[in-house]
Amino acid sequence: MEVVKDPAEMQRKAEGWRREGKVIAFVPTMGYFHEGHLSLMREGRRRGDVLVVSIFVNPTQFGPQEDFERYPRDLQRDLRMAEEVGVDVVFAPEAGAMYPPGFQTYVEVKDLQEHLCGLFRPGHFRGVATVVAKLFNIVKPHVALFGKKDYQQLLIIEQMVRDLNMDVQIVGLPTLREPDGLAASSRNAYLSPEERKAALALSRSLKRAEELFSNGERRTERILGEVRSILEADPLLQVEYVELCDPRTLEGLRGEVGKGALLALAARVGTTRLIDNTILGEVDSAEDNAQGQDPQG
Ligand code: PAJ
Repeated sequence: MEVVKDPAEMQRKAEGWRREGKVIAFVPTMGYFHEGHLSLMREGRRRGDVLVVSIFVNPTQFGPQEDFERYPRDLQRDLRMAEEVGVDVVFAPEAGAMYPPGFQTYVEVKDLQEHLCGLFRPGHFRGVATVVAKLFNIVKPHVALFGKKDYQQLLIIEQMVRDLNMDVQIVGLPTLREPDGLAASSRNAYLSPEERKAALALSRSLKRAEELFSNGERRTERILGEVRSILEADPLLQVEYVELCDPRTLEGLRGEVGKGALLALAARVGTTRLIDNTILGEVDSAEDNAQGQDPQG
């Protein structure tokens, strides 16, 4: 496995692979790997002749009051884990190489950012779209893999790729969870044992909503009310939003919901902001397949 820091060197490598007719698979990350990241890499390994993973804590997607400085970082550990999964190249640039003095070009996906996390993190998705566009131009992937845990991010990347005619296939993969249901996240590292217990209310409330839905409940008020009351029952937890929305446009749904509605939520546990979501009525067989086919479990 090779570690590349220089964007120009990464581009030369990628161009070489393309000339040889190789399929480039790419997993962009901010590092501090967990099983969610690894599941994307394993799928990337299957889909590409070469697999590139980027590790870059992107300053432009963090607000001034957010956790950019204290975001967990451990490059040596990440490199060991990437090597084990069979990553060919880790692209780990410095911030100065990605945003040199004079940088002034941004990518903004207008409407999709006006919902959910976008309302609570102004500028966040502009930073995400911009860095992913840059990474695509540097790594030149044929296929790029993203997690549905960051559902809005995935939609925004898909929209950007369509709108800007980027020649890359976007693949969305199911949310990897800890055995107790907590969605894997680098930010889980911030949680004290007590807070981690409280954080379980997120996945528990989604499970409850799925149960209501499968028992025939269709009223948005009822479903949202139940989810809220589970979250609000925990004093360590502060709800940011709970929404039922159209899974393509993210417009809020009122009245009754049908199969395929997105239930998305964000909450703070202490100072840690966590998100989770589910698609109502969806049996995510892709998840079973992904794990079932994985020789490493
Ligand atoms: P990061 O939070 O490191 O996540 C990298 C990728 O892993 C994203 O596609 C994310 O959706 C996916 N992921 C995170 N938790 C997951 C889980 N529990 N199950 C499955 N996939 C999961 O998302 C980012 O970085 C950044 O915004 C980035 C796209 C790299 C741009 O800076």
